[in-house]
Amino acid sequence: MELIIGKNYEDMSKSAADIIAELIRLKPNCVLGLATGGTPIGTYKELIRMHIEEGLDFSGVKTFNLDEYLGIGLDLQKPYTQDQSYARFMHEELFKHLNIKKENIHIPDGLAKDPQKFCSHYEEEIKKAGGIDLQLLGIGGDGHWAFNEPGSSLYSRTRVQPLSKQTLEDNFESFYKKSGIKKEDMPHFAITMGVGTILESRHALMIANGKKKAEIISKALEGSISWEVTATAIQLHPGKTTVILDKDAASKLTWTAKE
Ligand code: PGA
Repeated sequence: MELIIGKNYEDMSKSAADIIAELIRLKPNCVLGLATGGTPIGTYKELIRMHIEEGLDFSGVKTFNLDEYLGIGLDLQKPYTQDQSYARFMHEELFKHLNIKKENIHIPDGLAKDPQKFCSHYEEEIKKAGGIDLQLLGIGGDGHWAFNEPGSSLYSRTRVQPLSKQTLEDNFESFYKKSGIKKEDMPHFAITMGVGTILESRHALMIANGKKKAEIISKALEGSISWEVTATAIQLHPGKTTVILDKDAASKLTWTAKE
């Protein structure tokens, strides 16, 4: 595993974007696995800058997103659902700024009529695309990868998953702040790629920043592998593995005292 510790969020974001851009230049038709949340926003901003200022070309790139809340998506009438869907997030924070082809974007469909069937279809689509070259990952406060909440099998595949209490707490703020949604009205389920699906990516790139993530990052990288913290599966990733942190997120690691 390669561990990069940046000075701050901007540093972390720039390093992550550089790795992704290098892959796109090397393999213009690469398959990227993408993540949502506060952590990757800086990485996406930098990729957008590279596209605009340096001509980084996304026309051949295919993407698969990790997850989506069940029951919301871009098409629903209720305004809050539109605001909070990860499809909306990806469109606003990344895709609408790039020359990526619409048909090359894949995001779990939170409005699928038959979500189980959709999950099998999603796995098939990833296979058909030739597998994921690089999977960008954050880490949740409860140690989740995507929405693989504590108790998810490390062999799990794309499926419908109930959200943990902590995830509901962590994500409540964005639902409430943006749209005044009460906790009981938040989606309590999600479609998520499985840990097993993620582990098949050829390069896993995990990013985390801030003091809030220090404890869980130390558990994920230095703790015992366990379904209690599904991000510990990074220790099992057979392909290339990179972790990029800022100083704060790295502050509880014991084996990185050197800098
Ligand atoms: P965050 O979420 O980037 O908003 O902290 C990370 C995650 O839940 O995976």
